[in-house]
Amino acid sequence: MAATADVVVAGGGVIGTAIAWRAAAAGLDVVLVDPEAGDAASLVAAGMLAPVSEALFGEQALLRLNLLAVGRFPAFAAELEQAGGHQVGLRREGTLAIAYDPSDHAALLRLTAFRRSAGLDARELDSGQCRGLEPFLTPDVRGGVLFPGDWSVDSRRYAAALRAAARAAGVRMVRDRVTGVRPGHGVGVRLAGGDDVGSGSVVIAAGWASGAITGLPEPLRAVVRPVKGQLLRLRHPDGIPPVLSRTIRATVRGADVYLVPRADGEMVVGATQEERGPDRTVTAGAVHDLLRDAMSVLPVTSELILAETCAGLRPGTPDNGPVVGPAGPGGLLFAAGHYRNGILMSPVTADAAVAWLTGQRPAAEWEPFTPQRFLAEPATAGARTSKEAG
Ligand code: GLY
Repeated sequence: MAATADVVVAGGGVIGTAIAWRAAAAGLDVVLVDPEAGDAASLVAAGMLAPVSEALFGEQALLRLNLLAVGRFPAFAAELEQAGGHQVGLRREGTLAIAYDPSDHAALLRLTAFRRSAGLDARELDSGQCRGLEPFLTPDVRGGVLFPGDWSVDSRRYAAALRAAARAAGVRMVRDRVTGVRPGHGVGVRLAGGDDVGSGSVVIAAGWASGAITGLPEPLRAVVRPVKGQLLRLRHPDGIPPVLSRTIRATVRGADVYLVPRADGEMVVGATQEERGPDRTVTAGAVHDLLRDAMSVLPVTSELILAETCAGLRPGTPDNGPVVGPAGPGGLLFAAGHYRNGILMSPVTADAAVAWLTGQRPAAEWEPFTPQRFLAEPATAGARTSKEAG
């Protein structure tokens, strides 16, 4: 059965659902297509909103975009909670980066000097000051840096809130998978179940799997790749108060581990970073290494309950930046490749997508991150309705 809409969004992770919600709130008639297989990267994500503690040498444009994103997050989250009736668990206690041995400490201080030179708020602490903030840290910790501007959100609650808000705004959810974009006068999509949906605009937001969709410009199909991350979810036994009050990012003998506490007593420990294609298996070695590193810095971790092990696929790109913007003639928009920052960037991605869909200019921070950098021909923005598409 053929359906029509102003906008079809392919992919119901946090990026696609945020776009669908905001587009519907802007008055567009939106269909969101997702197989609901429960394998979205956002359901595995730790939910760190970390523009500062993840800022790396050479990624200044990405840092500017991430700072825009974190600044937007609280207002977006408040509106989302209001619209969908779900709390998202935003925590603003900051992030404490700690170093386990002298060479970990030297590396942390080098990165901190770079982050400070970019004007970021980073406060050096000695071992005692770190333990003053987080008393369960090992006394062996060498020192740390507090990043007050790096927060976290409960990624699963956030994803559920987005779905509720999208439904409340009138987004039509279709449980299927987009297999192809139909080029021509206007656009539209072909679904795995055999149906077509005609639309004025199509937004491709299928994460690492976006390249599997036929009809996209060929260079874009190869741009996003899966980068595996394995995580653990721990829970406090009944009656045990939280062992952490803020996110810890530790470097332990050269290996990075993060520990993210939730208000409901969960603690997420992550993550591996593996180039293994679309493999979601959980390995004994990864569970071992994550627990070993977590227990090195927070020995009380051994008392917590191992509730879940999981693996997700981040949508990585050649330059680690997202790919968001017009991707061809006739209302085709690409919004994928958010790599390690999908949760953080979902509000500003939705803002930018709605700007393009309605003929406005998105924030200047997006200029380096459009599909143009991978396409030879300039693409046009799509701002037509299904009626115009015919
Ligand atoms: N942003 C954390 C991760 O991708 O593991």
